[in-house]
Amino acid sequence: SANSIALGAPAGQPAQSQSVSKEVTILYGSQTGNSKGLAKKASQALEGIGFKATVSAMSDFKLNNLKKVQNLLIIASTHGEGEPPDNAKSFHEFLFGKRAPKLDGLQFSVLALGDSSYEFFCQTGKDFDKRLEELGGTRLYPRFDCDVDFDEPAGEWLQGVLGSLNEVQGGSEASAPVPVGTTQTAESMYSRTNPFRAEVLENINLNGRGSNKETRHLELSLEGSGLSFEPGDSLGIYPENDPTLVELLLQELTWSPDEVVTVKQGDARPLKDVLTSYYEITVLTKPLLEKIAQVSTNVELKELVAAGNEDKLKAYIESRDLLDLIHDFGAWGESAQEFVSVLRKIPARLYSIASSLSANPDEVHLTIGAVRYAAHGRERKGVCSILTAERLEAGDTLPIFIQHNENFKLPVNQDAPIIMVGPGTGAAPFRSFMQEREENGAEGKAWMFFGDQHFVTDFLYQLEWQKWLKDGVLTKMDVAFSRDQAEKVYVQQRMLEQSKELFQWLEEGAYFYICGDEKHMAHDVHNTLIEIIEKEGNMSREKAEEYVAEMQQQKRYQRDVY
Ligand code: 2AM
Repeated sequence: SANSIALGAPAGQPAQSQSVSKEVTILYGSQTGNSKGLAKKASQALEGIGFKATVSAMSDFKLNNLKKVQNLLIIASTHGEGEPPDNAKSFHEFLFGKRAPKLDGLQFSVLALGDSSYEFFCQTGKDFDKRLEELGGTRLYPRFDCDVDFDEPAGEWLQGVLGSLNEVQGGSEASAPVPVGTTQTAESMYSRTNPFRAEVLENINLNGRGSNKETRHLELSLEGSGLSFEPGDSLGIYPENDPTLVELLLQELTWSPDEVVTVKQGDARPLKDVLTSYYEITVLTKPLLEKIAQVSTNVELKELVAAGNEDKLKAYIESRDLLDLIHDFGAWGESAQEFVSVLRKIPARLYSIASSLSANPDEVHLTIGAVRYAAHGRERKGVCSILTAERLEAGDTLPIFIQHNENFKLPVNQDAPIIMVGPGTGAAPFRSFMQEREENGAEGKAWMFFGDQHFVTDFLYQLEWQKWLKDGVLTKMDVAFSRDQAEKVYVQQRMLEQSKELFQWLEEGAYFYICGDEKHMAHDVHNTLIEIIEKEGNMSREKAEEYVAEMQQQKRYQRDVY
């Protein structure tokens, strides 16, 4: 197969001639398609050297079968505050629960995906790794923790796993480096690692004059990209940093903005350019400060990252950027090259797509809330949202890619009722849902809950919702404008007011979707949902929780939260 060629199987000796008896189970858990893509790569690579690999989402895996597994590879990302992603929750609970099996015969290895700008970096992968060992498993190969830019470490991990498996099997076949670039659509040559430059077609502010908010509606052209997506998917954007911030940073440094630095092999550019578009300069992370402290001569900085000072470090990096760091502790490194070499590559910013491809061919629409706030005596700006709000005009281009999200999808059955809860920019994917259902002439009922601060200035896409209501694409809409009266009103209050009907919809098989703020909104809406089921279904809290877990298992409870 083409695959064994990619792996460098010795000429004239098909990989299949090796023992085929060994089975490897690969379980993935993540909100995005990344871990699934990696799981598939791992499976192909394993089959290429004569193993039989079975790939499954953690949520689809029969938990009772775990005891029979001999070789297990786990690929898992981490969500929010160190929690497992939704489709890894049941497996995670099972392993940590009382009914977890002894896994004495198990060999395993974990690939953890994460984002080092979060405190609980790769926590879910770490949990699995530790727990599998506690249950008696043996580590086939050490865990790898990958930051946003995961391709290289993931490839190395897979390489190591293949080597170990081969060794354990007494195999002799050497495996060549495994390329791990994740493919996304068969038709498109563009991907996360090879982004498409999309032209801006439209960029408008959805909020009215006098609003506290600025929410941009951005339309991009996908023409010529071959990219496609489904409602529920996200778009990744590689943003450029604020030129004013880059300027301030350069003023603090002794090196010339034109001094050429190498960011990776074969890619050398002036310092000013790399600070603008290659490196992250607005977010400080613990691993970054640890690296900097090693090359810095500043004693206070070394003190800050020293063991025992975790809380201080955490407080320091909150809402501070590279400019603060240099102000406070001075620059580091003997050269511009050394200075940049510790920096983190700028990660893409992800946005839930707000349009449907069938309704708007060759286009993708986004709903982006502008992030501005003051902290530590300075005005702070979100990198990508402020690029959009302040510097991006029709005709400009942005490097983008599609991030598939199989855990946030319209029901395949177009007659199935859907309930959508999306306050603020959380409305985005539901606009896409409505466009898609309108386009398909779907018959299923739909109920939208929207909320924002003020009716007059903040009712995002008001006319569109009203038209969908009129045309019957949308059956019901409830809105909660939190600051139009003395008492705060939120979407979950609207849900409660109609708890009876909402429960009826659930009993009819409705799909329940939440999009938007995770920490407060999604959490409260989740609790309200349970409360409604408890009340209207005459159930104990425990039974109501089981009801929601069951919905989740059936993929009738889906969240896209941030
Ligand atoms: P607030 O800012 O007036 O408190 C979109 O941002 C909307 O979500 C706003 O109306 C905001 O209200 C509201 N919101 C804030 N916290 C929320 C929560 N915990 N649950 C639901 N909505 C919330």
